[in-house]
Amino acid sequence: MSTLSKPGGMPGNRDPFAAYICDETALDVLRPVVIELGWQPEKCNKGGLRNAVQSLSVSASPNILMVDLSESGDPLNDINALAEVCEPGTVVIAIGQVNDVRLYRDLLASGIHDYLLKPLSASVLRDSLNAAQAVFSAPRGSESDTVKRHISTAIIGTRGGVGASTLATSLAWHYSADKAMPTALLDLDVHFGTGALTLDLEPGRGLTDAIDNPSRIDGLFIERAMIRANDNLAILSAEAPINSPLMTDGAAFLQLQEEFRHAFEMTIVDLPRNMLINFPHVLNDVNVATVVCEMTLASARDTIRVLSWLKANAGHVTPLVVANKVQAGAAEISKADFEASIERKIDVTLPFDQKGATAAAKLGKTFIDASSSSKVSSGIKQVASRIIGLGDEDSDEAAEAAGKKSLFDLKGLMVKKDKADA
Ligand SMILES: Nc1ncnc2c1ncn2[C@@H]1O[C@H](COP(=O)(O)OP(=O)(O)O)[C@@H](O)[C@H]1O
Ligand SMILES: [Mg+2]
Repeated sequence: MSTLSKPGGMPGNRDPFAAYICDETALDVLRPVVIELGWQPEKCNKGGLRNAVQSLSVSASPNILMVDLSESGDPLNDINALAEVCEPGTVVIAIGQVNDVRLYRDLLASGIHDYLLKPLSASVLRDSLNAAQAVFSAPRGSESDTVKRHISTAIIGTRGGVGASTLATSLAWHYSADKAMPTALLDLDVHFGTGALTLDLEPGRGLTDAIDNPSRIDGLFIERAMIRANDNLAILSAEAPINSPLMTDGAAFLQLQEEFRHAFEMTIVDLPRNMLINFPHVLNDVNVATVVCEMTLASARDTIRVLSWLKANAGHVTPLVVANKVQAGAAEISKADFEASIERKIDVTLPFDQKGATAAAKLGKTFIDASSSSKVSSGIKQVASRIIGLGDEDSDEAAEAAGKKSLFDLKGLMVKKDKADA
């Protein structure tokens, strides 16, 4: 084994690089690249993950660590063991023989910086090590400023008229006005959207322009094209001409959501169900799918279909089922039968409230704003906090997957303390 720096965990004691590689062939490709980068070739050790764990348990971790998983029977578990002995900030590159996207994703999720497939080539190694160096020397902000929370929910009506847009506009109003969260409402009912109408606003050309020219979408575009409903609420809605079909591949919808992620804390997408069929990737960035239904036979069937579509096509999205317009004694299907047929509970039930709906329409306000103390409004607030709860869970996972709170950082903090104590 080569000379490793003394324990202590001070950054100054750390080697810039070390590798633990199982076979000579790979070592022969690696050593010249390491020399090229100005590191010591002796730091390329023969041995795999297990040797790395052994030596790092008694010495300081290098800045960049390359480990070979080829002889590891359970790579994820072994990586876990490695994280136990690595100091925070170590950038780990794994190499292996298994070409499996799932393993790759799991490794990245556990905080591995990169995974390289054998046989190794000098150019792949060089690129990966350069990228690792860039990551290591990049300034690490404190967690609070690196992870800006953003939650995105799509409101999907299982049928027209169930109240999806009523819920979408009310949620947007609630987050922006009551919770003071910078909020975007994206109304993807491009021809017949009611997002602006509900608030007595003109939709303008923003959304149609975005669809026509997705490449123009940037922060400035968002600022100009969105209409303001209150200090914290910006809306993008349209009344696209109905004499010609919509010409889009859906790129604009993704691009808009990407920009919203930077500019707002909350994105609400009013998403007509047929958009799922034409543009399935529209949910790529969405955390929570709020599925709105009513107690009818047709809605039960379509709730089943939408939920199973979500499971098959958007596994990352957490569904939340909201029943609207619920009236005792006037349902085609009882709540119990409905829940049995969709094979899950309804999360929140909103009663039928004709007076509230009429008041909102007359005042040109959202339902929740027009009758804030009604039962429907308190149900909508419940939906709002469920979305935040589910979205937060989801964005924690996303942050971990992005390596921001990787195993290596969390476990490493404990290692650093242990080594300092020893
Ligand atoms: N809980 C409710 N009670 C009574 N009417 C409601 C309720 N929720 C929505 N509505 C009304 O139902 C109609 C359809 O609602 P909308 O939100 O446009 O449905 P969707 O977007 O699902 O097609 C609107 O006139 C709205 O005011
Ligand atoms: Mg609608």
